[in-house]
Amino acid sequence: MGILEGKRILVTGVITDSSIAFHVARLCQEQGATVVLTGYGRLSLVERIAKRLPEPSPVLELDVTNDEQLDSLAGRVAEHVDGLDGVVHSIGFTPQEALGGNFLNTRWEDVATALHTSTFSLKALTTAVLPLMKDGGSVVALDFDNSVSYPIYDWMGVAKSGLASTARYLARYLGDQKIRVNLVSAGPLSTMAARSIPGFEELASAWPQRAPLGWDVTNPEPAARAVVALLSDWFPATTGEIVHVDGGFHSTGA
Ligand SMILES: NC(=O)c1ccc[n+]([C@@H]2O[C@H](COP(=O)([O-])OP(=O)(O)OC[C@H]3O[C@@H](n4cnc5c(N)ncnc54)[C@H](O)[C@@H]3O)[C@@H](O)[C@H]2O)c1
Repeated sequence: MGILEGKRILVTGVITDSSIAFHVARLCQEQGATVVLTGYGRLSLVERIAKRLPEPSPVLELDVTNDEQLDSLAGRVAEHVDGLDGVVHSIGFTPQEALGGNFLNTRWEDVATALHTSTFSLKALTTAVLPLMKDGGSVVALDFDNSVSYPIYDWMGVAKSGLASTARYLARYLGDQKIRVNLVSAGPLSTMAARSIPGFEELASAWPQRAPLGWDVTNPEPAARAVVALLSDWFPATTGEIVHVDGGFHSTGA
C-alpha cells in the first residue's frame, strides 16, 4: 500500500522529465494515486513526457493566467476523476527583464507578469478546483527560500515571498473546509525554469558547499518526496507551513 492509495491528484507544471512536477507525478502514481496533469503551451511535448510516467495520465490545457481556462478546469478534470484530494502548483515564470541583476530597472509590466503567473496563480488554481474538493484535501506549491535576498533572483524572489503569504491566507480561508495549503521550499534544481535564469549556476553553486546535508542540483526526488508527504494523510494538522528541502541551507548563516 502506498501513502496516496486511492487519492486523486491534479499536478501542474510538467514540461520536461527534469521538471519537479514530473517527479511528483511519478511518485504520486508509485504511491497509489490517480494523477491528472495540466500542461501549458507546448501540450504535445507535455503529452510526450507524460508517456514516461509509470501510468498513462490525461493532460489538460491550463494557462494559469487565462480566466476561461480556469473557469472550465473543474469540469474538464471531472471528466477523468470524480473529485480531487490534492493539487500541486508547480508553476513559475518571470520575464528576463525581472531577473539577473536588473532589479532597480524592472518595469511594473514585467513584475506584474511575474506576480500573476507565479503568485496570484496559487489562489486562482486553488479556487478553480475547489468544487472538486468537497471532502477536504491538500494543496502543495513549490517555493524557493526568500527569507533573505539572493543575487540574480530579483523579482522572482519577491514573487516567492508573495506565494508564501498567499499560501498562509489560503490556509486561513480554507481550513474550515479541511483543506491544507503548504509549500515545499526546494534548493536549486537544474530544470528548464532554473536554467532560464541568467547566472543560475553561480547562484546554485553555494548549496552543495554550504548545506549541512550537501545538495545535488540534478536530483529533484527529495523535493518531490516532500510534496507527496504533504499530499498524504501524514501531515493532517499542518497548514500554512513551509517545509524546506534544501539540504539545510536555509538554516545556516555562512
Ligand atoms: N528549479 C529550481 O531551482 C526551483 C527551486 C525551488 C522552487 N522551484 C519552483 O518549482 C516550480 C516548478 O519549476 P521547475 O523548476 O520544475 O521548472 P520547469 O520549467 O520544469 O516548470 C515550470 C513550469 O511552469 C509552467 N508555466 C509557466 N507559465 C505558466 C502559465 N502561465 N500557466 C501554467 N503553467 C505555466 C511551465 O509550463 C512549466 O511546466 C516553480 O514554481 C519554481 O519556481 C524551482
